[in-house]
Amino acid sequence: RRVVVLISGNGSNLQALIDAQGHDELGGEIVAVVSNEPEAYGLTRAREAGIDAVVLPHREYENRDAYDGALIKVIERHEPDLVVLAGFMRILTPRFVQRFLGRLINIHPSLLPAYQGLDTHARALADGVAEHGCSVHFVTEELDGGPVLLQAVVEVAEGETEESLKQKVHAREHLIYPIAVKWCLEGRLRFSGEGATFDGTPL
Ligand code: GRF
Repeated sequence: RRVVVLISGNGSNLQALIDAQGHDELGGEIVAVVSNEPEAYGLTRAREAGIDAVVLPHREYENRDAYDGALIKVIERHEPDLVVLAGFMRILTPRFVQRFLGRLINIHPSLLPAYQGLDTHARALADGVAEHGCSVHFVTEELDGGPVLLQAVVEVAEGETEESLKQKVHAREHLIYPIAVKWCLEGRLRFSGEGATFDGTPL
């Protein structure tokens, strides 16, 4: 099974997926990493793992639709079973989402549907929540609104700062993303149109 990962930055989630693949725990192979940012450190991570690293700078395209058209081409060249967004900081057009619907997933640093959008940790802290976390979800046209596949919860401690909370959540992201990818590739987690379904196999 073939996986394409889209990134814009550091790529620590990408690294978690690469490491899982190295331990035969991904259920497939990352065949390409695509970044819209030429300087993204995740590209180095990909190259060091011997994975095809593709730079597709959005600044070279006239508009979102032209960019997403080019992105679709690059991705389809690699014939993926699953397209994984790992810190890809661009809003995707409906056309792109429709093209990969049901095989396009994202990780978001909050317990969705709470805190869609940016600055999730600061907003959660400001609200004084007791629990925060991260979610893997299918991507639909509604930003951060698609069906959730898997979540991890962290407790918000006394004296928690935005940075400490971010680090805690990030560590959980690295745990759950490879699992979610594996279950998607195995067909255990599926997009049903209505939501995400789990096939009920004991874990
Ligand atoms: C993560 O916080 C993820 O939840 C969000 O973007 C960030 C990517 O971090 N979608 P990294 O590049 O994987 O380190």
